[in-house]
Amino acid sequence: MAKYSSQFPDPVILVTVTTEKETNFMTVGWASPVSFAPPILMVSIAPGRHTHDLILKAGEFGVSILADDQKELATLGGTTSGRDVDKPAQEKVEILPGEEIRAPHIAGARAWLECKVVSHHTVGDHTVFYGKVVRTVADESKSALVLFNRVYYALGEERGVYP
Ligand SMILES: Cc1cc2nc3c(=O)[nH]c(=O)nc-3n(C[C@H](O)[C@H](O)[C@H](O)COP(=O)(O)O)c2cc1C
Repeated sequence: MAKYSSQFPDPVILVTVTTEKETNFMTVGWASPVSFAPPILMVSIAPGRHTHDLILKAGEFGVSILADDQKELATLGGTTSGRDVDKPAQEKVEILPGEEIRAPHIAGARAWLECKVVSHHTVGDHTVFYGKVVRTVADESKSALVLFNRVYYALGEERGVYP
């Protein structure tokens, strides 16, 4: 049977978080808006991720939607853990301060959103965090990086506008 989760094109997001002690980020593909009013999104994070417990402590998180030239940051965020590596301190990373939350955002991203956790639920082997979006900033000059079937893509040819 084909792997069900590989059939979905995913955004490539860095979820950022800051607690009293540290700042960290991780790569997330399982993320989506779920409500317009109030504006709420979800991110699905496995309990073993260092970021998981940091979000529980902080009660808030940032979402940086990576631009199509930021694949290296996705690899850094998704293949190393904040338990072992100070990811925000790496040379290729530039972080900028958040305004409504303590977590920073990632410079050069397509967009960044600042979220306050409204609830979280265990769903199978992940925890789904619902975050109320309290600030959204978009850089319209950039396009988003996409992951499909384990391959990163820049968006391709336009096929018409959604009615
Ligand atoms: C492209 C990509 C997408 C990922 N998506 C998720 C995801 O949606 N949820 C998740 O829990 N882990 C996901 N991961 C794995 C985490 O990013 C990875 O385990 C990371 O090292 C956790 O970092 P941390 O321990 O500092 O929190 C993804 C990794 C990559 C490369």
